[in-house]
Amino acid sequence: MRRAVESPAPPRVTGADTFRRLREGLLGASFTAERVEAELGTHELSSRPAETAVHLRRLTGADPFSTLAKLFLLDAGVDADRVEGAIPAVGVEALERLGLVELAGGRVQATVRLVPHGDYFVASDAGHESGADVPYDYVPGIQAPSVTLAKLAVRRPCSRAADVGTGCGIQALLAAKHVDRVVATDTSPRALAFAAFNAALNGIENVELRLGDGFEPLAGERFDLIVSNPPYVISPDAAHAYRDSGLAADELCRRIVQSVPAHLEEGGFAHVLVSWAAAAEGDWADPLRAWVDESGCDAWLLQYRTSDPLTHAAGWLKPLGEVDPVLYAGALDRWLEYLERLRIEAVGYGAVVLRRRAADRNWIRTDPLPLDRLEPAGEHTLRVFAAQDTLEGLGDDELLDLPLALTSHHRLRQTLSCADGGFVVESQTLDLTDGLAFTIGVDRHTASLLPHFDGRRPLRDILARASETFELEPSEREAFVPAALPVVRRLLELGFLESR
Ligand SMILES: C[S@@+](CC[C@H](N)C(=O)[O-])C[C@H]1O[C@@H](n2cnc3c(N)ncnc32)[C@H](O)[C@@H]1O
Repeated sequence: MRRAVESPAPPRVTGADTFRRLREGLLGASFTAERVEAELGTHELSSRPAETAVHLRRLTGADPFSTLAKLFLLDAGVDADRVEGAIPAVGVEALERLGLVELAGGRVQATVRLVPHGDYFVASDAGHESGADVPYDYVPGIQAPSVTLAKLAVRRPCSRAADVGTGCGIQALLAAKHVDRVVATDTSPRALAFAAFNAALNGIENVELRLGDGFEPLAGERFDLIVSNPPYVISPDAAHAYRDSGLAADELCRRIVQSVPAHLEEGGFAHVLVSWAAAAEGDWADPLRAWVDESGCDAWLLQYRTSDPLTHAAGWLKPLGEVDPVLYAGALDRWLEYLERLRIEAVGYGAVVLRRRAADRNWIRTDPLPLDRLEPAGEHTLRVFAAQDTLEGLGDDELLDLPLALTSHHRLRQTLSCADGGFVVESQTLDLTDGLAFTIGVDRHTASLLPHFDGRRPLRDILARASETFELEPSEREAFVPAALPVVRRLLELGFLESR
């Protein structure tokens, strides 16, 4: 069902000088991501009324930061003279001309949400994301999936990037830092207006915006980097452009993933957030494998969750449940009937990472995506792809010839327990501190080997030296290398070791 709620006008792009003063004014009020985190204890500001009420009570001061945070983050009305005082170089009138606020009876109300994010400021629609009265073309700000995609992206300097379904433009703005030219598309003119505003607000000039469906506005063009956070939610509704594709089941995600190869340069990477119709039992990756098979790309398939239909529907409809329990119950039934009609037993969530590579055979690999531990993953992704290339068809003898290096992004954790008047090691865990923050249990021999992976000596030499120093029994000595090889393969595969 498409709702007929009208959207307010998006903010307006004016002269570069106004935007420069606005940026300086916001920074002058220390309206920064660090300050938000310090004052409100979180950078994930939802627009739920209950949380907003708590945040408002934390900001008791009338200082410039508190004034702007109340206005732009918490949707609260603020006295006009306070806003003038908080950002004097811009003033209320200019904010109104930009379409950021409305002034009535001496009180200022924001018409957008404006958040500091890293060293950017990002405007999006104010208000709630999924209540009953949210317009179809509501433009959300930076959500958890936006951050996931931003962390996944390979951030190498390159010449061309595309952001498909740009919304407020955050992925395009991030790409603009390391890519010469970014093209961002969206089916929503309103989203493109926000993206244009955000580019101008941040003084970014290398982002081009195009209206259209999926890759249609990019016909015949290739890119070194493609990112997409499409409306991937499997739903019977077409209520929110950012959430519902309007296509059956996972059709939009499949189309986007299958369109990527034709638009990727050789060696280029694509990162697409996806959701897919899955079976209740069996391998979660099977449906995704069918999307990327014979694509001319190597594929890293990542999964962070598989939900049963009721959990899926209840999760997405929860904000509606908070404002209208009757509508919520009806919507739950509608979603469940839809999923049952399409015989969708479960819904998978994750990401598809593709790299175009001309080869007789491309590889496909699957891993869990640990969202709670996700760190910027560009470098990790490059290590994983390089390792997978190396390991494809690599015999043990060739593996033994490789000089391997332990990544600097690691920590070894030991669990000790006290026994016989001293501490003994109970277990050891090797953690990755970048990217997907993989973790793997290691035995004492593996842990002792790790410092020797210096990228200079071949694995064969490291294992030969170790088997001497470990004081192994003769029977153990023979089994040592065959037992070590699968462990080394796994460490390489996960990105703990690199082949130099
Ligand atoms: C979840 S929002 C993504 C916002 C932003 N890229 C981010 O990462 O936060 C999805 C966006 O895709 C747009 N969209 C929906 N269907 C589309 C399609 N078929 N082709 C391109 N964009 C589409 C929506 O208008 C919305 O702005």
